[in-house]
Amino acid sequence: MSVDAAAQPVDAASRDDLAANGLRLAVVDESDRAGLDAWAQAVRRGFLDVRGSSDALGARHELRGHHRHVGVWDETAAEPATPVGTIESWVSDLTVPGGAAVPAWAISGVTVAPTHRRRGIARHLLGSELRTAAAAGLSLAMLTVSEATIYGRFGFAPSAMAADLEVDTRRARWTGPTPTGRTHLVEPATLRAGAERVIDRVRRATPGNIVMGEVFLRRMLGTLGEVAGDKHTSAWRHLRHDDADGTPQGFAVYRLVEDDTDMARSTVVLHHLVAATDEAYAAIWSALLEMDLVSRVTAHLRPVDEPLGWMVDDRRAIRTTTFDHLWTRILDVPSALEARTYEASGRVVLEVDDPMGIAGGRFALEADASGAGQVTATDEPADVRLGIDALAALHLGGVRARMLQASGRVDGDVSVLDPLLATARAPYLDHWF
Ligand SMILES: CC(C)(COP(=O)(O)OP(=O)(O)OC[C@H]1O[C@@H](n2cnc3c(N)ncnc32)[C@H](O)[C@@H]1OP(=O)(O)O)[C@@H](O)C(=O)NCCC(=O)NCCS
Repeated sequence: MSVDAAAQPVDAASRDDLAANGLRLAVVDESDRAGLDAWAQAVRRGFLDVRGSSDALGARHELRGHHRHVGVWDETAAEPATPVGTIESWVSDLTVPGGAAVPAWAISGVTVAPTHRRRGIARHLLGSELRTAAAAGLSLAMLTVSEATIYGRFGFAPSAMAADLEVDTRRARWTGPTPTGRTHLVEPATLRAGAERVIDRVRRATPGNIVMGEVFLRRMLGTLGEVAGDKHTSAWRHLRHDDADGTPQGFAVYRLVEDDTDMARSTVVLHHLVAATDEAYAAIWSALLEMDLVSRVTAHLRPVDEPLGWMVDDRRAIRTTTFDHLWTRILDVPSALEARTYEASGRVVLEVDDPMGIAGGRFALEADASGAGQVTATDEPADVRLGIDALAALHLGGVRARMLQASGRVDGDVSVLDPLLATARAPYLDHWF
């Protein structure tokens, strides 16, 4: 299914509600450069960023490509051309357990001007986007968030966690596999093509990962420059690992931060490490941990089931902080559940409550021995009752049903549901969007 997000109309209910309060909800016309600029400046302001130059905004529009830019305008404001609310969306493939790529409605750029906060503008923007996406036939919406307190009320839940690591390299002596293949230090231009192929292979094999657009790829490699307002990427370094045949299988992007008082106590700040093979993973980590003049590696946004702890002498040398990363929202229960596969078989009836009235109902989920799942609407008594947000948390396998039952977010008998939804690997998304 291919859905053009930018071509979808805004939701009439939200538009009319906002109009009753003197506010206009609309999609910015892609050919309206001044309108797109004002929209992008409002987003920068909303995220406490500096103003963008005309060149930076132009590059942004080009790199983001064909996205949907929605705004809310207050014609009574001193500068009525600048929206007081913004939201951006596009359709991107999300990998689900089993490896299928499911088109999902990606949301970003959610801001409301401080002068207009807490009057329900974000509620209307989210409601409008979710109803539009559901009407367009999408089974899921997804976002990464600035604050974990905002989106639960709209039916989203954290469905892929991530971890930040801090490694004391003096203690973490490498005991993992001896690297084979070859690791190169390269410039970003040399890395780019190989990195793209590695990212794509990893994405297809990793539930929770999504297609990385051009702007996110450049941000990952540190080549976004002024578009991101980032002047510091000239300090970024790039490692590429090639297998014995010379094919790139992984890469790392990092920078070095010196200690002012001791040259031998520098820190590697690891921005990204993407590896398509176990060999590349081990080779890159060992290269990072064994760098001269370095006593610490910090790593942001790593998988929660990273094997690194099993590859060093002293696992207490690694401190891990986990956090919620990818949030998803189910817009259609049967298609979301049928898209993934199941590592156990069984049948369970779910009563799904959706306070926004988009996707709730009672459904029988049956998974057969081949791993395929079938979902049908039913009026049989429910085994399990849960909110649409709890179902999103479970959908990619990021949390066990038993855990949500213990936390009071799932009610009923989870003895079938728990093994049914469990996955061998934790879902993981490797970038912010
Ligand atoms: C987050 C933001 C978009 C909310 O906009 P808003 O128009 O003030 O939100 P609304 O008035 O529609 O609020 C809807 C509900 O969410 C709650 N809410 C809004 N922002 C919240 C926050 N940051 N934390 C907790 N609850 C929040 C409101 O209290 C309200 O709850 P209620 O319906 O139970 O009363 C706005 O504060 C903002 O621009 N923040 C800075 C940028 C940002 O962080 N954006 C999110 C990016 S992921």
